[in-house]
Amino acid sequence: MTQHTESSIGAGHIRVEGPLKVTGRARYAADHGLPGMLHAVPVCATVGKGRILGIETGVARGMPGVRKVYTRENIGRFPRVDESAAKLDEYRPPMEDDEIRYYGQYVALVVADTLEQAMAAAAAVAVQYDAQTPDVSMDLAPDDEPRVDTERGDAPGAYAQAGIRIDHTYTTPPETNNPLEMHATVAVYDGRAFTLYESSQGIVNHRVAMARMLDVPEDSVRVVTEHVGSGFGSKLWPWGHSLLAAAAARDLGSPVKLVLSRRMMFHNVGHRSNTSQRVRLSATRDGQLTSLRHDYLFHVAMDEYHKENCGEATGFLYSTPNLRAAYGSARRNIAPTTSMRGPGAVPGLYAIESAMDELAIELGMDPVELRLRNEPEQDEAAGLPFSSRHLRECLLQGAERFGWARRDPRVGSMWRDGLVLGWGMAACSWMAVRLKAQASVALRADGTARVASATQDIGTGTYTVMAQMAGSVLGLPPDRIEVALGDTALPPGPTSGGSMATGSLVPAVLAAARDAVRQLAACAARAGLPQLAGVAADDLRLTGGRLHGAGRPPSSGVPFQDVLRAAGIERIEGHGQSEGSDADPRAKRHSMHSFGAHFVEVTWEPAIARLRVARVVTVIDAGRIINPRTGRNQIEGAVVMGVGMALLEETSYDSRQGAPVNNNLADYMVATHADAPDIDVHFVEHPDTVLNELGARGIGEIGLAGVAAAITSAVHHATGVRVRDLPVKVETLL
Ligand code: MOS
Repeated sequence: MTQHTESSIGAGHIRVEGPLKVTGRARYAADHGLPGMLHAVPVCATVGKGRILGIETGVARGMPGVRKVYTRENIGRFPRVDESAAKLDEYRPPMEDDEIRYYGQYVALVVADTLEQAMAAAAAVAVQYDAQTPDVSMDLAPDDEPRVDTERGDAPGAYAQAGIRIDHTYTTPPETNNPLEMHATVAVYDGRAFTLYESSQGIVNHRVAMARMLDVPEDSVRVVTEHVGSGFGSKLWPWGHSLLAAAAARDLGSPVKLVLSRRMMFHNVGHRSNTSQRVRLSATRDGQLTSLRHDYLFHVAMDEYHKENCGEATGFLYSTPNLRAAYGSARRNIAPTTSMRGPGAVPGLYAIESAMDELAIELGMDPVELRLRNEPEQDEAAGLPFSSRHLRECLLQGAERFGWARRDPRVGSMWRDGLVLGWGMAACSWMAVRLKAQASVALRADGTARVASATQDIGTGTYTVMAQMAGSVLGLPPDRIEVALGDTALPPGPTSGGSMATGSLVPAVLAAARDAVRQLAACAARAGLPQLAGVAADDLRLTGGRLHGAGRPPSSGVPFQDVLRAAGIERIEGHGQSEGSDADPRAKRHSMHSFGAHFVEVTWEPAIARLRVARVVTVIDAGRIINPRTGRNQIEGAVVMGVGMALLEETSYDSRQGAPVNNNLADYMVATHADAPDIDVHFVEHPDTVLNELGARGIGEIGLAGVAAAITSAVHHATGVRVRDLPVKVETLL
């Protein structure tokens, strides 16, 4: 009945919340200030292993402005959340016992009138420990037998018989998510219910987790996240500070603000495990893979288990009859690990794609050609057809746009302006999953619409694409559509994780908009408007905000607000919901992933050992792109993060206390604007209508996967040095 006008899908609208952000009016969690608000500062353990013998709080309690000092003795007990109810990466609530498992673990909390008073008093809390030497070794001897991710054929047997073999181990260091905006909670308790202003990638899950730990009904917790200064995975699940702030607000009867320091960001809100990955490949002389074996290890915290799923893409990326991916883990006195952008696949593809590059060299074959020769017909791990796979096109287009045909494969053979050029490439992949979602779309008597869902915009453009989705059905431009998100009072929406939010919102938002138009048409039929006389409700269309008969020009119809006025109603609200892809029979019959290829140019100046990433061409197959501007921006940001992963990022731990020593953005280096290469992003657009009607998959994380391998491949081409331990260090190249 409703016509699907697609005018706004695929248009490069600027971010609808952009003006709020650039004028400083966008409110982030810590921007919330309330009358009588108190400030909380946690006290973090200064040993990495041991037991608390006592905590002396007397001095702190006597300091100016201090309201209360909480320790295990007086904070109360918090029930643990059941894994089936809500997801956390640290299930142990803060201060549950006296055991110290990692450096930085919360041991006390000071609440005072001002932040400065709370900080001073927190520094005056004296904790006595029975300290032991923590195990923060980066060596990854696994604790137990390997567990198999996926296996087919006989990988060890085929490898043993092969003439061409590659066997290398690749390592990646612990990386810390480090979004620009610190984690923060402003907790308000009104005697019955909580409002938590959070920086969260998943407010719906956050609400459930908090309700369980605070032991109140779910409808007594409201979580609000209007804007997020990114999260990179560290804000997917709730962490202890949120609970501490909420518990203190309830106990003291005043709003409590708790903002993590950058130091705490290194040990209280997750990081990516270090990994060690042994990759064995065998192939025929003409480059056909005969086996692929991927054995990977990662560290986990003492009490929690987060799998760094390096095998995410291993099973289906290339065709080979014999394959085995297996993993193991090593417990360390390191803070709980979490998802960091492209969890698993990002370190995993660094290893797999590096090994493919080494195999190409062994074969004397172009690395693009090697990938093309091993392109599978279907997902050989799942035995399912791909919903939409265009890696071949990404490889060919990327090579074309980059000028790959001019590459001389000999090491150090290409020069420009006195610099050695290194050219490298890698493929990439990332999962496509649709989460269940609900949305509402309202048409209002002032001629505007409102689309709402309890999801988040983590800087990726969710506000904008929600307006575009609703606008595509309503025929309205984004500036006539208000977007409401980031509030658990709205219909439950998807977590902003796994690059799943946009693709998950599509069916719910379209259904809600269509429901609103359906109600509008019924309302018009009842109102008996002369312009629409004789047109059945089913034959009414909404175009450009005007309701008109199908086959007649929109100008013959009526603005929808006039319909509402004629009917004497203020607003019509449509509702939409969709199941996740795990409950969708058609989706379950397909293997759904995004694909892409990166081509990288580095410059190397041997005289002064200067390495720069100069140029990156990235071609991504992520289905339909709803907004090429925010989409391209996602990939550009991810590529810059890939430069950081390849050349800079590494968390280092002090072996005596287990402290992350480079716990600030001066010593933990991320790529800056000056490190950013010239980036050319191109999308091959093949709508993936198995995932959703618009065919849009996610685009946040795939841009990071594979970049580090393409860079180290380029570094090898320039210098002859194969870097198998990230990050690339200058001394390794000399
Ligand atoms: Mo992403 S690590 O799912 O924020």
